[in-house]
Amino acid sequence: MARELATAADGEAAPLALHTFPDGETLVRIDAPVAGRRVVLAARLDRPDAKVLPLLFAADALRDLGATALGLVAPYLPYMRQDARFQPGEAITSVTFARLLSAHFDALFTIDPHLHRFARLADLYQLHAQAVAAAPAVAAWVRDTVPRPLLVGPDSESSQWVSDVAARVGAPWTVLDKERLGDRDVRVAWRGQSDWEGRTPVLLDDIISTGHTLLAAAEALQAGGHPRAWCVGVHALFDDNALQALLRAGVERVATCDTVIHPTNAISVVPLLARAVAVWQRGAAPSPDTTA
Ligand code: R5P
Repeated sequence: MARELATAADGEAAPLALHTFPDGETLVRIDAPVAGRRVVLAARLDRPDAKVLPLLFAADALRDLGATALGLVAPYLPYMRQDARFQPGEAITSVTFARLLSAHFDALFTIDPHLHRFARLADLYQLHAQAVAAAPAVAAWVRDTVPRPLLVGPDSESSQWVSDVAARVGAPWTVLDKERLGDRDVRVAWRGQSDWEGRTPVLLDDIISTGHTLLAAAEALQAGGHPRAWCVGVHALFDDNALQALLRAGVERVATCDTVIHPTNAISVVPLLARAVAVWQRGAAPSPDTTA
């Protein structure tokens, strides 16, 4: 990812040297001249807790070594779903995480962050934040791969992604009704419509984590008499059993974007990020949040 971003931005890529001491602490070393340069850290931040401290150490070291501006490319932006105190005493980690990154970076580039109670990244992050939509890449893949697609979102939140992809593909779209009762207890209802006969349902969601949302949605579609669904996810977080459970339930194919490395990756979104970074590297301000 760093190499692809560097090529697009007419820069160079350098690995970050990390060493873990026997006591579990991390040493970070930057083996490239950074004084007087704009620097971008590229980090895949799924399963973030072990990665974030080294990331912040690197950012701090880069400033100390003379970098003039610091960007972060995090194709998957974690800690976006805990955007409210759902139970008394809970931490609102979206806000804390945003504060942490904002204190260390000047710019943030990410793909389809889970914006729900905060409408725009700018409402959370105090830096130049650019949310790049995966929709052009997802739409191109659906158009080339799925015969006569019907785009389906598992819940009303997903309408923002589903409507955008459907418009680009020129296909109909709808969303289902979801009720989440627990981490792995999800109910999805299909309201049904008959004039979509002959269409291939493509379930589209931003995040696949336990897979239970798409599993319940695929089962609801099957119960409604539709052909086997395809599943497309932007961020492939997948816990251990999620993919097997989807395939066992009769899903035709599961495809994801490469924001998180996973065997289902079929859609590359790095070129979309590279374009945004190239603009920023030239010294122009990143365009404002584009998905809000
Ligand atoms: C929820 O708000 C998100 O958009 C996804 O639907 C959710 O994170 C999927 O999680 P899981 O795969 O665990 O059902």
